[in-house]
Amino acid sequence: MTREGAGTILVTGGAGYVGSHTVYLLLRQTNHDIVVVDNCPVDYDYPTQTNTNGPGALDANGNELTHTDSLPESLRRVQLLAGRKLAAYYCIDLVEPPDGLDLVFMRHQNMAAVIHFAALKSVNESIGKPLEYYTNNLVGTLNLLNSMRRHGCRKLIFSSSATVYGLPKYNPVDERHPSGQNILNPYGRTKSMIEDILRDICRQKHEQSCESPSWAVVALRYFNPVGAHPSGHIGEHIHGIPNNLMPYISQVSIGKREKFYIFGNDFDTPDGTGVRDYIHIMDLASGHLHALDSLLDRDPSRRQGLRFYNLGTGRGYSVLEVIETFQRVNGAAIPYEVTKRREGDAGEVYADASLARAELGWEAKLDLVDMVRDVYRWQCQYPDGYKSPMKSADLSELESTKSS
Ligand code: WQD
Repeated sequence: MTREGAGTILVTGGAGYVGSHTVYLLLRQTNHDIVVVDNCPVDYDYPTQTNTNGPGALDANGNELTHTDSLPESLRRVQLLAGRKLAAYYCIDLVEPPDGLDLVFMRHQNMAAVIHFAALKSVNESIGKPLEYYTNNLVGTLNLLNSMRRHGCRKLIFSSSATVYGLPKYNPVDERHPSGQNILNPYGRTKSMIEDILRDICRQKHEQSCESPSWAVVALRYFNPVGAHPSGHIGEHIHGIPNNLMPYISQVSIGKREKFYIFGNDFDTPDGTGVRDYIHIMDLASGHLHALDSLLDRDPSRRQGLRFYNLGTGRGYSVLEVIETFQRVNGAAIPYEVTKRREGDAGEVYADASLARAELGWEAKLDLVDMVRDVYRWQCQYPDGYKSPMKSADLSELESTKSS
């Protein structure tokens, strides 16, 4: 999927888990210039790696930051793996006053679209820190939208979440399922509130000056992103104790955690444990490129207004199925103990992803075996995530994964 000289794409939060895998594919499979804005997550800095491959980080005024290794380690590796450099990386926090962001738009005049990942994203953490989540996720998004409008860029892909559906009334969950109701945590509520903001700005047909284009927005509702790039050199960097199933299991598999705790086995599911729609991070990243293609399509009917798409596989797996598959594929034991349910957990949630297939021409291609194999490779190679030194990347291995 390449588009000749089709302008610059701004990726906010591009150093993070979903962002870095999407930036990898953008560098690999398009000819867009890619500019990343991120808030310089300390965890992703690996001090002894000098940034020998790509732009140094710039501050909000466009000045090189003092030390050249300020490119987050995740992005340093993305450039190595992709064999191509970012056009620029800016260490900017979207919550700060937007003059830094304005400068980015001024320095990159041909901004074709924005992919907005930057957000706090832990369900559990949001329950204990609601104000941080509302401030970071809502103010950051509003600053971005206002900056986009000031600079005439109104094409956006928004990183949304299946949590906007709350406890599902039916499965598979399609895009017509009610959203914004009985959401049990501030994280999910921020995603739903941002979707409401996007609905309202997309309703504005044309502002006063009729030549101003209306907004074109795609909101992608992720189900359960898991896995890592098949090289094992980039993946999900875990901060502290993992809240989610796959990172916890992978830490148990290398002995970093003693055992896995299954949150309840009395759900109304085939084996009593929770069922979810796990989607490989590379499929998820690919969904963003398909959404971008539709946004930049010359046919206005394919790009105007606000559209929502589920990004899932359409297949649910139970906790026990994931554990069994992980053990069988990787030959790694996962000791576990059943404990009580986690508050607010649904028994079963999986996607109807047929709309994305019909309208974006996208569908997930990788299965649970790929997911557990790739997350295990990442975990074994980098037990401390980006704090572990990069192994010599045998990039020739990547030739075989050129398509991903
Ligand atoms: C999966 C299953 C648990 C941990 C996540 C994100 C949310 C959103 C959707 C993007 C459930 C069980 C888990 C553990 C367990 N993603 N489990 N022991 O709850 O579906 O939500 O995906 O926006 O942000 O939080 O995913 O991985 O936490 O749980 O038994 O230690 O694994 O009960 O059935 P969840 P999860």
